[in-house]
Amino acid sequence: MNIELTVNGEARSAQVDAGTRLIDLLRDEFRLTSVKEGCGAGECGACTVLLDGEPVCSCLVPAVQARGHEVLTVEGLARNGELDALQRAFLDCDAVQCGFCTPGMILTARALLRRNPDPSDREIRSALAGNICRCTGYAPIVRAVRTAAQRMGTEVRR
Ligand code: FES
Ligand code: FES
Repeated sequence: MNIELTVNGEARSAQVDAGTRLIDLLRDEFRLTSVKEGCGAGECGACTVLLDGEPVCSCLVPAVQARGHEVLTVEGLARNGELDALQRAFLDCDAVQCGFCTPGMILTARALLRRNPDPSDREIRSALAGNICRCTGYAPIVRAVRTAAQRMGTEVRR
């Protein structure tokens, strides 16, 4: 079947079948390879994308479910070649090692900061609980999200 959806702000369409997962559509058809497949079972968060602003595991979502909706991946964050605040903070805080978890972490954090612009460390850890990182020990990631929140707050106040 043919579906139409918005991906990173662009209208897209694709042929999918009932068994096509959203991760397959994004990676294989649209070449958005920031979307990583770890467990394929909804447990690691590596495949997280935003669907209408909410984090979902794209390995669990049928592509057809995205019909008519907006999908955001990390490829859609930079503007005019400039990294967004979370991407910049992850780099500045050394929150990226192998990078496999990073796109999912950043998108989950983006959704958190949308609904809670000034989260506590506990709230950051709780929001990121479904995103597994085997490299960093999480502390730099929490620091990165806090840093981005502070910088975004500063930008808003300017
Ligand atoms: Fe989707 Fe692990 S690959 S949650
Ligand atoms: Fe390697 Fe998180 S940086 S899994």
